[in-house]
Amino acid sequence: MKSRAVALIKFRFLFAASQNFLCFPKTSNTRVYSGIAAITLLPVNETLEEKVVGEVGDHPKNSEDVFRRWGCTATDISRIFRRQPALRHADIGHLQSRLSTLRGLGLNSSGLVKIINCRPRFLSCHINHGLDERLEFLTTLFGSRELLLKAIVRNPSLLTYDFHNRVKPVIALYEEVGVSRKELIPMLMSRPTLIPRTSLTEEKMEYIRRTGVSKDSKMYKHMVTIIAISRLETIREKLVNLEKFGFSEDEVLGLFGRSPFVLTLSVDKVQRNMTFVLGTMKLPASLVLSYPFLLFFNLENILKPRFILAGKIQEMGLEPQIKGPAMLTALRMTEKRFLNAFVSCHPMDVTIELMDSYRNAKDVKRLAEASKKNPRKGFPF
Ligand SMILES: *[C@@H]1O[C@H](CO)[C@@H](O)[C@H](O)[C@H]1NC(C)=O
Ligand SMILES: *[C@@H]1O[C@H](CO)[C@@H](O)[C@H](O)[C@H]1NC(C)=O
Ligand SMILES: *[C@@H]1O[C@H](CO)[C@@H](O)[C@H](O)[C@H]1NC(C)=O
Repeated sequence: MKSRAVALIKFRFLFAASQNFLCFPKTSNTRVYSGIAAITLLPVNETLEEKVVGEVGDHPKNSEDVFRRWGCTATDISRIFRRQPALRHADIGHLQSRLSTLRGLGLNSSGLVKIINCRPRFLSCHINHGLDERLEFLTTLFGSRELLLKAIVRNPSLLTYDFHNRVKPVIALYEEVGVSRKELIPMLMSRPTLIPRTSLTEEKMEYIRRTGVSKDSKMYKHMVTIIAISRLETIREKLVNLEKFGFSEDEVLGLFGRSPFVLTLSVDKVQRNMTFVLGTMKLPASLVLSYPFLLFFNLENILKPRFILAGKIQEMGLEPQIKGPAMLTALRMTEKRFLNAFVSCHPMDVTIELMDSYRNAKDVKRLAEASKKNPRKGFPF
């Protein structure tokens, strides 16, 4: 009871402070409570009153005190100090004002810990300058306070990017090329580098056109944002890497258009997966153009063991076999469905033999990982 009451007062006090500090429209429950007024509402208890006056009336002794009054637990505070030791000696006034700002946004202590964890210097940044204008813009963009807060916890830099020279122009740029604000929200959430790294040069726009992805396509926003945050050299490297497997530049760009995420795979990953698909599975390269998902499979967990099992089934003369189009279907199945369809459909002794072979094929993974220290680079064909 006592601690709840203290917490209540602390909360009201801080909330009031944050309302003073920010210029949000005041609603009925945001009146400024003085510490004393709130105390008189509580059952009289000397000890409690002393404590409350001690908490509210005094100035905080140090930054730890500031965090504690703001609502951080001892664990939160130790996490914060571990991540950014300089905060132990932070200027109390500045710290209080930053924290009030953040409280006004609806941030709580667990959100604060996450923010400090990913941006240790965040509380030393000038987040208060021009804050109202920025918040108004961002709240409109995200559509709600809740979503904005979520975005800020994921990417605290939303409060520190240069608002006029970076945030606004970047959002306007995307609108100009046909990515609406609404479509941009999930992109902003999933790609924290979107604002600082976006550039859409004429060359990049030409690539986007050549991928053939239409502005109405669900993939358009992905295509545009991935190209916008990639360096031109990187895009070229990835193009050339796929061309080595016999595709023309337009075929590769078409592949990007159908499956923009191929552009997020590293040159190395594409090479290893392509090499397996072509070299070991003996599938034609052109199949990757129609089934880009082949590039996304985990080689060691799905592609290789299922392929090895297919060989075993053929060798044992069993039906159904996993070949031709059935192979593509089989690769996309969940583990359970795959085993039901091709392994446990046989008599017990056969099932056991197949299962052994499948498990062995997966076990190779561990051995392979142990020797993976020195990954072979370069082109194997
Ligand atoms: C007043 O506080 C003391 C010490 O915390 C506690 O033991 C006591 O139960 C409280 N009295 C009332 C009426 O809340
Ligand atoms: C902190 O706020 C987030 C929303 O921003 C919420 O999901 C979470 O439950 C809150 N945590 C606590 C301890 O109140
Ligand atoms: C093939 O690509 C997928 C998706 O990126 C990845 O998880 C897998 O590890 C890759 N395989 C190899 C051998 O790199």
